[in-house]
Amino acid sequence: MSQFVDIAKIIEGKHDGESVSIRGWVYNKRSSGGIQFLMVRDGTGVIQCTLNKNNVDETFFNKVEKLPIESVLEATGLVNLEKRAPDGREVSIKSIGNIIESQPNFPITRKKHGVEFLLDNRHLYIRDPKMQTIFRLRAMMMRVAREWFNERGYTEAHSPIFTSAACEGGSTLFEVNYFEREGIYLSQSWQLYAEAMISSLGKIYTISPSFRAEESRTRRHIAEFWHLEVEEPFTDLDGIMKVGDELVTHICQQLAEKMPRELKRLGRDPKSLLKIEPPFPRITYDEASEILRGDGIEILWGDDFGWQQEEPLTKHFESPFWVTHFPIGIKAFYHKPDPKRPDVTLSGDLLAPEGYGEIIGGGQRIHDYDELLKRINDENLDPSNYSWYLDLRKWGTVPHSGFGLGIERVLMWICKLETIRDTIPFPRDIRRVYP
Ligand code: 4AD
Ligand code: MG
Repeated sequence: MSQFVDIAKIIEGKHDGESVSIRGWVYNKRSSGGIQFLMVRDGTGVIQCTLNKNNVDETFFNKVEKLPIESVLEATGLVNLEKRAPDGREVSIKSIGNIIESQPNFPITRKKHGVEFLLDNRHLYIRDPKMQTIFRLRAMMMRVAREWFNERGYTEAHSPIFTSAACEGGSTLFEVNYFEREGIYLSQSWQLYAEAMISSLGKIYTISPSFRAEESRTRRHIAEFWHLEVEEPFTDLDGIMKVGDELVTHICQQLAEKMPRELKRLGRDPKSLLKIEPPFPRITYDEASEILRGDGIEILWGDDFGWQQEEPLTKHFESPFWVTHFPIGIKAFYHKPDPKRPDVTLSGDLLAPEGYGEIIGGGQRIHDYDELLKRINDENLDPSNYSWYLDLRKWGTVPHSGFGLGIERVLMWICKLETIRDTIPFPRDIRRVYP
């Protein structure tokens, strides 16, 4: 058998009229009038293949007809344009090579399954074409984000996952048994270490897992998520929000240009992503609260925005938008208080429209030693846990800013998904660490 081609290339029209060999899993099949229709999936895509009784040996035809779904086969045939086939093309099979027959009763069938059943069988459900499409978009999103940073002189830098200093408050910390020592946690964010690394590397970014012990199960929280973070010296809140504007725009435009077919399959019109342009609107926490009060939603000054506030707020915008200057009491200790108004911070959250809400959190950091020590004490944190972090303010301290973007949050919005769980192959939440 000749060399195998990627099904994706067939769908893209690179092999029209040619004889090709493919191999993959029989995702679905049906038979009618002496023709078998096999949907074959090879990891790059799914293609309809036809097997005509008149073209092959009868025992062979019957053998293929009895194959359970998820069997694997090698096939050679002609690529034809066929309007009725899912991507306008099909392979009309002339011969079949090796077959790996699967067991019958593959648990995922075409009937509608419950959410929990599909999560229990996640190791098999990830073969579903919808899942495949999402994970492919996920990979492309990471790729174009890295490209954006690399082309602009940012260096990718890594921080430890085992940490002794909480970054985002104690309530969502996962404590681990680290050689029997107390107070060691999984990282919630690379940020504190990033602030040390900028004096070595300048502008930096990372894409890494972060961990949050989220006690409640929601549509937009998972316990282990992928965090794209950026930190840069000589940058204020305005500067870092511009980075967010450009980065998120780049991700939207590139996905729309490179994977329009995949987006459409998920119900996302690529044109709506191409329309996204910087700069994104900016409103302060106070202005956001006013908008909410106008909608009849009560909010006391100093209360944090949860889902109940973010969701209605997003209805007022068509693109992502920033909410800035959150009260000091609802932001972590490292946020710089606004010198003009010290009860608010130089912070910014980017919210995605269409009801999706927060996708980025960040802002300007305190770079003055005394100011930082005061905030650590005010928050009742133990300064000895942060002595290295305080050190950074002693030698060559400069204004600096950064943010964290939730990869799954952005993907959930771009792919128009109901739940964040479908953005990651094996989601982790309070109820689930299996499979
Ligand atoms: O707003 P957060 O908590 O900010 C930080 O961690 C900063 N230290 C980041 C920084 O400045 N370098 O988290 C940042 C983003 C959120 O906006 C959200 O998109 C995502 O991380 N995120 C989660 N995504 C999924 N599940 C969770 N449980 C998440 N918690 C945060
Ligand atoms: Mg946040």
